[in-house]
Amino acid sequence: MSINSNALSTYKLLKATAEVAEKSLEGRIQHYRAHLKSEDKELRTYTQKAAADLLGVNNRTLKRRHDQGDFDHLSIQKGANGHYAYTLSNIFAMADTLGIKSDHRSDQDKLQVIVINSLKGGCGKTTSLVNLAAALATTNIKRYRIGIIDLDPQGSSSSFFPSDDHEPITVGDLMRDCIELEEGETWPQLVSESFQKTHIPNIRFLPSGMDDFYFEHETATELKESSGYDQTRHYHKLKERVIEPVQDEFDLILIDTAPSLNFMFYNALMASTAMLIPVHPEAVDFDANNKYLKRLGEIYHTVAALGHEGWDFMQFLVTNYVKGNHSQRDIVKDVRTAFGRQVMSYPINHSSAITASSSSFNTIFDQKTSDSLASRESLLKSQENIKDVVDELEMLIRSNWVSTQSSLD
Ligand SMILES: Nc1ncnc2c1ncn2[C@@H]1O[C@H](COP(=O)(O)OP(=O)(O)OP(=O)(O)O)[C@@H](O)[C@H]1O
Ligand SMILES: [Mg+2]
Repeated sequence: MSINSNALSTYKLLKATAEVAEKSLEGRIQHYRAHLKSEDKELRTYTQKAAADLLGVNNRTLKRRHDQGDFDHLSIQKGANGHYAYTLSNIFAMADTLGIKSDHRSDQDKLQVIVINSLKGGCGKTTSLVNLAAALATTNIKRYRIGIIDLDPQGSSSSFFPSDDHEPITVGDLMRDCIELEEGETWPQLVSESFQKTHIPNIRFLPSGMDDFYFEHETATELKESSGYDQTRHYHKLKERVIEPVQDEFDLILIDTAPSLNFMFYNALMASTAMLIPVHPEAVDFDANNKYLKRLGEIYHTVAALGHEGWDFMQFLVTNYVKGNHSQRDIVKDVRTAFGRQVMSYPINHSSAITASSSSFNTIFDQKTSDSLASRESLLKSQENIKDVVDELEMLIRSNWVSTQSSLD
């Protein structure tokens, strides 16, 4: 087969562009790593008062327990001002010492697997997901065990949780079965290790990689050559190969997706127990969203026919909402009129703090207030906003756990 010479030039241009883009991305990551002052991403630290608030104990109790030497084994560092600077890991370990129990789901409570998806690119899927996860992990002492899976090969959420490993095992590697087990290693062990620890102690992260794109092509080929669903189980790979082997290690798994209804997305649907659909309140986005919903119904029908057990909840989440913008307010009204209680009570507001922290791959809960490129006021305001959204999300999750239902009723 001969290639047209013009096409060859186009191809060369694309290759050169890709090299420049790769260097630029690497440069950006280096730059922000340097900005973070250490190779490993560090979480903000807490003052003694903030630690006491998070632990739900009085500041004097904390001081007394320090004086008694109860926390000596934790080697808590002091800041430049000579006061304790607690990390979240310190605070969680202190909670253990103080007998404050973690609030994990019980054996009879179902693991919640929440998928965030919309066909509309740039509507805030990744930003919302990473900030909601960080809020749920860091703003209470429950120590939920949270997993995040980046099912978007572009890896936007992976940038928020950088891996020490330059070539980490990706979700696509596991779904495509292209990793060989070491001698004596089991599949659940391999999957468990692939969910890497992050700078947030109770979040583990399974990254994506560009090669995950091959999943689409390989699945299409597999389908052509197979005689029936049971031979390929191509929509069950995420659920059966990735999630079920580690389901006892998590209370909650959040899945970020690409703006696409591809095979990866069918897999996300099959694994999901709940769905969050971000809606950016701009007219064109809302119209696109309505078309997407029609298609989603059709896709869901396929997944249901293959054994999906239904969602515990499906909610629309208004994202990147500019308060005071009249046309956005009218669209939010339309969204609420159309979908009623399926819409989360609070939108995620547009915030300069989110813009600033996202540009350095941080959530608004990661950073020291002094490191934020936004004002302290805007950071705190945005944190309060996300916490309101998370409170409702947490209520939705817990209302589906048998062990927490009665106390809510
Ligand atoms: N609440 C917010 N405040 C400020 N900026 C926001 C907010 N939500 C999203 N953004 C910005 O909007 C842009 C798109 O957001 P994001 O990447 O989360 O969208 P996405 O739906 O994940 O996109 P894709 O479809 O490409 O995966 C980003 O630049 C992000 O920083
Ligand atoms: Mg995204």
